Amino acid sequence: MARAASCGWPPGRVRLRAVRIVVVDPSDAAAVAALHRIYVKVGQADNPQSFVAAPVAEIREILAAPTARFEFTAFLGFAGDEAVASGWAALGRNDAPHLAYLTPRVLAQHRRRGHGSRMLAVMERHAADHGRTLLQGTAVWAAEHGPDGWGSAPVGFAKARGFELAHTGVRLRLELPTDRGRLDALLAQRSARRAGYTTRAWVGPVPQQLLDGWAVLHAMLSEDEPHGELERPAETADPAAIRGDERILAESGRVKVNAAVLSPAGAVVAFSSILTRIGAPDAAFQQGTVVDRDHRGRGLGALAKVAALRLLEQTRPDIPAVVTENAQDNAYILELNRAVGCVPVLYSGDFQRHLTGPATPH
Ligand SMILES: CC(C)(COP(=O)(O)OP(=O)(O)OC[C@H]1O[C@@H](n2cnc3c(N)ncnc32)[C@H](O)[C@@H]1OP(=O)(O)O)[C@@H](O)C(=O)NCCC(=O)NCCS
Repeated sequence: MARAASCGWPPGRVRLRAVRIVVVDPSDAAAVAALHRIYVKVGQADNPQSFVAAPVAEIREILAAPTARFEFTAFLGFAGDEAVASGWAALGRNDAPHLAYLTPRVLAQHRRRGHGSRMLAVMERHAADHGRTLLQGTAVWAAEHGPDGWGSAPVGFAKARGFELAHTGVRLRLELPTDRGRLDALLAQRSARRAGYTTRAWVGPVPQQLLDGWAVLHAMLSEDEPHGELERPAETADPAAIRGDERILAESGRVKVNAAVLSPAGAVVAFSSILTRIGAPDAAFQQGTVVDRDHRGRGLGALAKVAALRLLEQTRPDIPAVVTENAQDNAYILELNRAVGCVPVLYSGDFQRHLTGPATPH
C-alpha cells in the first residue's frame, strides 16, 4: 500500500491540501500502475511526436532497488480518490551525491490548481532531507514556443518555482525505413580517413572484451556533450554500471541495438546505441553516439550511427521511427542527425536550482 509522504510534512497539513501526496511503495502494484498511467498520459499529451514510454516493469524495478548512479522515490498526488499527479525523484549517488533530479507531472485536465507546485515542494523537501543541494529537472515543449520556451507550461512553471533554464536541447524524429542512398552518401564522406578502422554491430549486452573501452567512452560522452549552464558532475567510467543498466533493461523487456568502431589497434573508439522494446513496435530511442577525442574528424560517429541504424532496420522492421535528443548547440551531432534524415519536432530543457536553505513548503 502507498504510505504517507515521509518528507517532513506534518501529516495533518498534507491532508488539508487540495492534493494528498503519498510515497509510492514499489511492492504496491496498484500504486505503481497509477504512477505509470500518469507518466504515459502526460507523455502522450505533451510530447506526442517523441514520447517513448519506459515499461512499468522498469519503473517497479528501479524503485525497488537503487542503480549504480541513482536511488529513486516516487510520489502520487490524489484529488479525492483519483491519482492526478505524480512525482519522480532520482537522487544521485557515487559521482553525484549532491544532486536530485525531480519530475512533477500533472494530468492535463488538472493543471493550474497548484498540484505541480505542491508535488515539487514535497520532492524538494525529500531531496533536502537526504542532503541534496542541487535540483535539476527536464521537460519538453512544443516548437511554437521557441528555444526559450516562452509561454510553455514547463518554462512558466519552472520560473515560478525558482528554477532557471540552464540548457536547451532539440528532440528529433527519424521515420523508418531510412533513405538508403542518403546513408550511403554519408558513409562515403571522409571514408579515406578511416583505413584500418572496423565496425561491429550487435543486439544486446556489450561483449565482455569491449566493455572497459565502452565504459570509458560512455563517461566521455557525458563529459563532452555540451550542457550550457547545467552543472553536470563528471561521470567515472564504470563497467559495472553498464552491466547494471543492461540487467534492468533485460528484466523490463528492452534491449539495445549497438554498434562500435574499433581502431586499427583494436580499441573501442566510437559507439552508437539505440534502445528498443522487445516485441512491441514502439519508436526506438537513440541513446548516444560518441567518438573518442583522439579519433575525431574521421567520420567515425557517422559510421557507428549508420551501422546501428542498419542493424535496427534488419532486425526490427516493425519499428516505425527513431527518436533522439541533441543539445541545440551541439552542431556536429545535429548536422549528422539531419544528414541521416532526422527532423526536429520539439524542444527540451534542463532546469536547475540550488538549495541554499531549507526547502520551503508551498
Ligand atoms: C509543469 C507542470 C508540472 C505544472 O503543473 P501545475 O499543477 O499546472 O502547476 P501549478 O498549478 O502548481 O502552477 C504553478 C505556477 O507555475 C506557472 N505555470 C504553470 N503552468 C503554466 C503555463 N501553462 N504557462 C505559464 N505558466 C505556468 C504559473 O506561474 C503557475 O501559477 P498560477 O497558476 O498561479 O499562475 C504540468 O504542466 C505538467 O505536468 N507538465 C508536463 C510535465 C512537465 O513538464 N513537468 C515539469 C518537469 S521540470
